[in-house]
Amino acid sequence: MRIGVVRRARCRSNERKAIIVMFRCPDCHAVLAGFPPAVRCSSCGSSIPREGRILVFTNKPGAQTQGEATYVGYDEVAAGYDECLHPEGLKRQLFSNYAKAISEEIGESRAILDLGCGPGSYALELARRGHRVIAADISLNMLRILDGRMPADVAERLVPCRMDAHSLPLCDQSLGAVLALNFFHFVGNPEAVAREARRVLRPGGWLIALGAIREECVSGAGDAPMPNLIRRYYGEELRKGGIVEARPPGWTSRQIPEHLSKWFGHRRTIESDALRLSYSVSAGWHLEKLRRRYTMFQIGIDERAHTPAIERTHERLNQEFGPAWPEKVLVFEAAHSLDLYFDSPA
Ligand SMILES: C[S@@+](CC[C@H](N)C(=O)[O-])C[C@H]1O[C@@H](n2cnc3c(N)ncnc32)[C@H](O)[C@@H]1O
Ligand SMILES: [Zn+2]
Repeated sequence: MRIGVVRRARCRSNERKAIIVMFRCPDCHAVLAGFPPAVRCSSCGSSIPREGRILVFTNKPGAQTQGEATYVGYDEVAAGYDECLHPEGLKRQLFSNYAKAISEEIGESRAILDLGCGPGSYALELARRGHRVIAADISLNMLRILDGRMPADVAERLVPCRMDAHSLPLCDQSLGAVLALNFFHFVGNPEAVAREARRVLRPGGWLIALGAIREECVSGAGDAPMPNLIRRYYGEELRKGGIVEARPPGWTSRQIPEHLSKWFGHRRTIESDALRLSYSVSAGWHLEKLRRRYTMFQIGIDERAHTPAIERTHERLNQEFGPAWPEKVLVFEAAHSLDLYFDSPA
């Protein structure tokens, strides 16, 4: 295995040219040089299929429910996740401010693997800031969303890849940082994923995961539990229809820092001004995002159970708060933090 990100090689014209070494053949592990990489392995002859600008390194199923390395791919809820996970006002701040905080912390020259990138909103912002980014997800639908919104100039620095995080087709010690935002919950063998993240990181590289998020409803006081109530009623209505919600197979939010600290030895938390966010949202929007299916526990729920559960939730809220409840505006202030894990003082 060749190690390193950029190697110098002589091309035919005798000029010295940088060759980027990050990817490896998923079959024989030979280096696939370049960024984006060569799609044919010169060693074993395998080809990496492409869909648009997406490189398809694995043909595993979208979700794996059996065996050691189970995972929950987001194919079924990709559009809802992209559109509804965050309200528009928060999205604008979130993606660029996270990228700013990360980039300032790690330095702009670092190449980044965004593991479980979803629709790639963070990957795009980081590539816009000049980083080389591998945007990796098992969900082709998520990667299609990213491919559809990736401007040509950014595409030089951003490669969307269908990969399973349990076995990455990437070279040892080839990346400056691995981003794993909202990710370790969804893989059934998070230890194997943490091992892979360590393997591909260069000495002094970081794994970056979400830290604590403190969120407060500062106006519409008394209504802060409304989102929780909407979620609870919907769950109750599903259960009345005999639906058992899926549980994420990986680490819980509390386990992530416990385990990653063991794997990496050191942790540092970033709490910057860029991560203090404020936004407003209508109460009705919380029901709308459930209706549009944006989250893991809604995967596999039949329309015949989903639609009546949404309707019953709406009725219950009307009875409790009157029919104007959806227009209520809730204003939130949030302080996010990011945790950096590393092996030796970076
Ligand atoms: C909750 S989303 C997080 C998306 C993004 N990081 C964010 O913070 O918005 C989790 C993502 O992990 C992906 N995923 C699940 N299992 C995976 C695996 N084994 N390998 C790669 N991606 C996986 C899902 O398809 C989904 O897009
Ligand atoms: Zn090969």
